[in-house]
Amino acid sequence: METGRRAFIGSLGAGAAGAGVARAAVLQRTPVEGIEAFAFDAYGTLFDVFSVTALCDELFPGQGDALAQRWRAKQLQYSLLRSLMGRHRDFWLVTEDALVYAARSLGLDLTARRRERLMEAYLSLAAFPDVRPGLEALRSRGLRLAILSNGEPRMLEAAARSAGIDHLLDTIISVEEVKIFKVSPRVYNLGLERLGVGRSALGFVSSNSWDVNGAASAGLITFWIQRAAAEPPEELGFAANRVVAAITDLAPLVAG
Ligand code: LAC
Repeated sequence: METGRRAFIGSLGAGAAGAGVARAAVLQRTPVEGIEAFAFDAYGTLFDVFSVTALCDELFPGQGDALAQRWRAKQLQYSLLRSLMGRHRDFWLVTEDALVYAARSLGLDLTARRRERLMEAYLSLAAFPDVRPGLEALRSRGLRLAILSNGEPRMLEAAARSAGIDHLLDTIISVEEVKIFKVSPRVYNLGLERLGVGRSALGFVSSNSWDVNGAASAGLITFWIQRAAAEPPEELGFAANRVVAAITDLAPLVAG
């Protein structure tokens, strides 16, 4: 590459990285004014989808991690594909389809009984340790709290009950009301409609950076729970308004 062009590209990279670092540090400390309600993504944000790994490994020794990873990746891919195809199917069924594919792709014998046990595990996923104290702190500030998820309502209710956080939620909002998955703007707008708040009064929280990008693209105020410090944000063009490491970091960011 000729020197001038290399220098130009280098300067673009340095500029972007430099701005990113400075911005993230400032964003994390500055409170957000006017938030009245928070809508949380469910899977990966409140509930640890990889808490199924132990059962996957019990049923398929040595393959648990691969199966759990592939299952989740396929589940999300199918949700996006179905939305593009205009062929909605609820997230419970999409999750089951993804499990069948993931097991087959790894050459695993997914009997009807094993399939049933793994699907049942999805109804009692563990909540991350910061979830309950984080929600309690927000509630004590008088904020309304909701789930806004791809999940089918009964699976979300079961998971919230099993994790002992159902009493901390004002409502559970499912994409089943609009029959299209994230990252359709219709999903994020549904959150605003159902909570009856203006765009500047709703904070959307997700640990899935692609979900944060979708919500920010729809005009919501977004909070990215960056659970792993090494995880980079997605390159989709819509950065979070705030980046924190845990749900317990949210309450101090809400101006009183
Ligand atoms: C959800 C998935 C996308 O809960 O994590 O909406």
